[in-house]
Amino acid sequence: MTTAVEQWRSLVDAINAARRSYYLKDAPTIADDEYDRLFRSLVELEAAHPELVTGDSPTQTVGGERADMFDPVQHLERMLSLDNAFDSEEMSAWFARIERELGEVPATVCELKVDGLAVDLVYRGGRLATLATRGDGRVGEDVTANVRWIPTIPTVLVAAPGGPPIPELLEVRGEVYFALADFAELNDQMLALGRSPYANPRNAAAGTLRRRIDRRQEEVAAAIAAEEAARVTAEGSARASRAAERVVRVTADLEAATGMLARLRLIVHGLGRADGFAPARLSEAYGALAGWGLPTADTTALAPDSSDAQSYIARYGELRHDLAHDIDGVVVKVDDLATQGRLGATSRAPRWAIAYKYPPEVVRTRLLDIRVNVGRTGRVTPYAVMAPVTVSGTTVEMATLHNATEVARKGVLIGDMIFVRKAGEIIPEVLGPVVEVRDGSERAFVMPTHCPSCGTELAPEKVGDADLRCPNTRSCPAQLQERIFHIGARGAMDIEGLGWKAAGALLADGILTDEAALFELTAADLMASPFFRTVATAGREPILTADARKFLASLNSAKGRPLWRVLVALSIRHVGPTAARELAREFGSIEAIRAAPMERLASTDGIGTVIAEAVLQWFAVDWHAEIVARWAAAGVRMADDREQGPRPLAGLTVVVTGTLPGVTRDAATEALQTAGAKVSGSVSKRTSFVVAGENPGSKFDKAVALEVPILDVDGLRVLLAEGPEAAALVVLPAP
Ligand code: IVH
Repeated sequence: MTTAVEQWRSLVDAINAARRSYYLKDAPTIADDEYDRLFRSLVELEAAHPELVTGDSPTQTVGGERADMFDPVQHLERMLSLDNAFDSEEMSAWFARIERELGEVPATVCELKVDGLAVDLVYRGGRLATLATRGDGRVGEDVTANVRWIPTIPTVLVAAPGGPPIPELLEVRGEVYFALADFAELNDQMLALGRSPYANPRNAAAGTLRRRIDRRQEEVAAAIAAEEAARVTAEGSARASRAAERVVRVTADLEAATGMLARLRLIVHGLGRADGFAPARLSEAYGALAGWGLPTADTTALAPDSSDAQSYIARYGELRHDLAHDIDGVVVKVDDLATQGRLGATSRAPRWAIAYKYPPEVVRTRLLDIRVNVGRTGRVTPYAVMAPVTVSGTTVEMATLHNATEVARKGVLIGDMIFVRKAGEIIPEVLGPVVEVRDGSERAFVMPTHCPSCGTELAPEKVGDADLRCPNTRSCPAQLQERIFHIGARGAMDIEGLGWKAAGALLADGILTDEAALFELTAADLMASPFFRTVATAGREPILTADARKFLASLNSAKGRPLWRVLVALSIRHVGPTAARELAREFGSIEAIRAAPMERLASTDGIGTVIAEAVLQWFAVDWHAEIVARWAAAGVRMADDREQGPRPLAGLTVVVTGTLPGVTRDAATEALQTAGAKVSGSVSKRTSFVVAGENPGSKFDKAVALEVPILDVDGLRVLLAEGPEAAALVVLPAP
């Protein structure tokens, strides 16, 4: 008879194998419905045996993007790239080259170069057959399944009365992108879901389009099935409520993903293969495409002469920060399609088109001062304070200078006229001084030797580090204000009313001396600060402000937030929302994370040695342990409601050693811990069982010497399925 553990293992192995081969794209090993069947069996088995559910079960992995891969699609015609021109001379050179080739300057079409993701759409008989990403230009990824959520992409083309008929085959190219306003909202959503925000609209578009919505739908279905099962067998239990919570979570995730897809936009900017459609000019083709319902750009213009193209470029150079979406240039294309054919293409790019790339804008302003900021982790960063100036559409007055070495390298003096640009159009960057206009009044920046906030002597963390840090991490007011502010942030505990100023007031008015007491705050405590109370007027005692009341209420509800948010709030270096989620998923509680050895942490998905070390180091600090203890005492939840099934192995200590046939060490450890056993790394007299696989080594010898009962992998299964008494009957005979 196969035990539940064996069934579970074989299902998990089969599903993981299928996922892996799917991930390799071109080698799916099983049909989709077979995969679905395996997945459902696993959900049912886990519903019946909750003790089997481990963090690495496929039912618990939230469709990691890494495994979210797509079928390959061969484009009907290659998707080429574009050659670039970076100034008007290079544009003129391009026009001169085609003039030489053709004997005249042809009319061109000028278009905005939308900063998005190139896609290929194929319509057969007027119906959308595939939507694919560019991929390597020949083969892209099939994202057709997502089209139903993207209203801007027509699935059926409709002929306009009197217009050209719908061609039998039509391949068009376009750009999928987000408007800037949608992008900003999307990133707010990402933060609210505990994810890292996207760096720019282009990445956001790529990330959104390349989502496996169908996998998320599967997750929802599985979660609902598990919830129903739990309701039938365990109404009212922690398991049932956890199952219900999971339904809410995966549904929210699905809705967020489809909601984001709905915001994606498409602009069609080219033709691939077409049967039954032979326009003479590109501008004519765009007219037909628009007539059939495909979205084309209304900013596109015909340029009869090269000077018209140059003025289009100049015009959008002025307007580019006022558009609804990001552009990184203008594309100029020969209008006549037969002429395009004559000019042809290199292996990389067509000769009939060129992309004019706008330079990053550089402006001049006065460097008024260089100050230093003490960050959340104590890093002391010099930053430039500048006379306000507009660059790439926004006003800037501050820019980081990173560290003293960087200030010296840039050669800027306080009082200098400096050049500033937006790096990647987002972060302002000081390029350097305008040396010619110095008048001798400029002075050099001197990096402080002591913390400007608490006076502690600054030091690099390691010899050779360019960054200086304030070592007074526990009570440096600047670091504390940053940390307390961070606890309230949307990506951490999300506490209303705990903004930058509130964090400052809590410290300045002596209500908090560090973050340990944050969750113990009462109305009486807050009354001690003018920031949180109303002004006394004749006959009226001050009372708490409405904001302060909201803060207290939010502080209270934050105590029930999921573990990953608590982890983010603790300001453990390198542990942002992503790592925190992985840790929470893998370990389930602060206690388990604190107890985990280096190898266990480092082998957790998405963690690795750098984060693992940071976690270990963080927990090794006394006052950090005190924060955890006081938050817990104040009611902050330090564990996720994991399945609390029966814990038949509570009180046992088990050591696992050697290679267990058919079971990974991690899975064995998880199963033992879920059943309540403590899994230890060393054998002592108090060890209840040693589970020994192949090549067990010295722990086995020690177990023999100390007469600790030894189990093989079958014995482990008995232990898990039937408990310690049954296992005692199957211990291995002493060698
Ligand atoms: S035409 C063979 N037109 O820019 C010509 N591309 O740097 C192919 N892009 O891969 C492209 N806006 O993703 C063209 N109006 C436009 C565009 C555009 C953005 C992107 C496209 C292409 C990339 C090349």
